[in-house]
Amino acid sequence: MYLRLCNTDDVPAGSMKKFYLRGQEFLVVNLNGQFHCLDGRCTHAGAPLAEGSLDEEVLTCPWHYSRFKITDGSVINGPAKKPLNVYRYEIKDGQLLLELKTKTSFYTL
Ligand code: FES
Repeated sequence: MYLRLCNTDDVPAGSMKKFYLRGQEFLVVNLNGQFHCLDGRCTHAGAPLAEGSLDEEVLTCPWHYSRFKITDGSVINGPAKKPLNVYRYEIKDGQLLLELKTKTSFYTL
C-alpha cells in the first residue's frame, strides 16, 4: 500500500525534512535529486534525525552523533547499533508516496 507522505518540492535538493504518516515520523532526504525515506527517529535513544546534519550520504544524529548511511540505513558508527529502516516509495504527479506494509500482510505470512 502506497500513501502520500509529501510533495517532492517540499524537500529541495541537499536538504532533509520530517513528515508524519499514521502517527509515525519519517525522514525524507533529497540527495542530488534522489530521494531517500528513512525512520525519523534515531534507533539509539529516539532523537529527531531531521535536526541532525547531513554530509552527502552520511546522516549524523543530533544527540550522541551516531552516523548512518542514508542509502541503506546502516550504522557507520555508534553508539547506535541498530540500522534505520529504509522505505520504498513511488513518485507520482509530484507527490512522494511511501510504501507501508499492512498488518494484514504480516498476519498472512
Ligand atoms: S539518540 Fe541518536 S545517537 Fe543517541
